[in-house]
Amino acid sequence: MTGARSVADPVVVVEGLSKRYGETRAVDGVSFDVRRGEIFALLGPNGAGKTTTVEILECMRTPTTGTVRVLGKSVTDSAGVDSIKNRIGVLPQDFSALGRLTVGENLEFFAGMFKSHLEVGALLDLLEIKDKKDVRFSNLSGGLKQRVGIAAALVNDPELVFLDEPTTGLDPEIRRATWKVIEGLRSRGKTVILTTHYMEEAQQLADRIAILVKGELAALDTPDALLKQHGVGREMIFTNAEDAVFGTLRRFFDNVSTEGSNVVLPFAETRDVQVALTALAERGLKVDMQIRSATIEDVFLRLAGFRISESGEAK
Ligand SMILES: Nc1ncnc2c1ncn2[C@@H]1O[C@H](COP(=O)(O)OP(=O)(O)OP(=O)(O)O)[C@@H](O)[C@H]1O
Ligand SMILES: [Mg+2]
Repeated sequence: MTGARSVADPVVVVEGLSKRYGETRAVDGVSFDVRRGEIFALLGPNGAGKTTTVEILECMRTPTTGTVRVLGKSVTDSAGVDSIKNRIGVLPQDFSALGRLTVGENLEFFAGMFKSHLEVGALLDLLEIKDKKDVRFSNLSGGLKQRVGIAAALVNDPELVFLDEPTTGLDPEIRRATWKVIEGLRSRGKTVILTTHYMEEAQQLADRIAILVKGELAALDTPDALLKQHGVGREMIFTNAEDAVFGTLRRFFDNVSTEGSNVVLPFAETRDVQVALTALAERGLKVDMQIRSATIEDVFLRLAGFRISESGEAK
């Protein structure tokens, strides 16, 4: 989804954006653009400035400095704000609906806020929650509540959809089901700006990932390019290897190392795997070998110097 057409057609242009709350620099000199039809992920730990950034794009907060254009309009121009708000959809980080109303009644309520909106039946179909229409919102599981939130974000048939941590707290199976929904938005031509602290989510879904650390942009590129530029590539891991394995491989490869009882050998060419296995076999050494590919988690660790826990904390 990153063709020449989309490069020439940015949906969002952010230049030198900063936001301060007193002494706190929540967002500090961030520039990026978002292209039509892509899933753009803002990835970072708790407090990185993700919500602040997207809420400025959603015209919910004002920038301290910098310029932000969304769908061709400035977020600080009052005429622009009205136009932007009509053309975007938002799943806020703390989405909640009216617990005592049913799913259908809630969506009718959200639809009533727009002059022109989709039919509630169509939204229920799109999110595959037709059978929940008459269920009270308070009786839904967390995953279904988030799905109603995504339906609410689509009520005005927006071009650009913001999803602020759409899968936080969901179990892995429900998270994957939500990923399908998000991919479905892209295949319907929508542009999606997703914030997340889940590496796997960004790697799986995003056409481009912006890594946000302490309000600054540490990197921005496609997952593949990030892996190429900052990743550790691929490694052979020989588990519970005897000392002779290290000694043998050392004769062929300078970069072999040990991690506890494992021997680790980064490699670039598939041919290196053959060389290593042949050398070990010729010496009669029996090994268990796995291949590990770099992930966005490795990239993040390299760039930020820390990992992110399941709950989003820097660790
Ligand atoms: N309204 C506010 N007033 C004061 N400080 C704020 C306000 N909103 C956010 N902050 C601070 O700005 C920084 C960035 O917060 P923000 O909510 O944008 O981060 P985030 O990346 O969305 O984090 P999380 O993953 O926890 O949602 C934090 O230090 C936060 O405490
Ligand atoms: Mg947030």
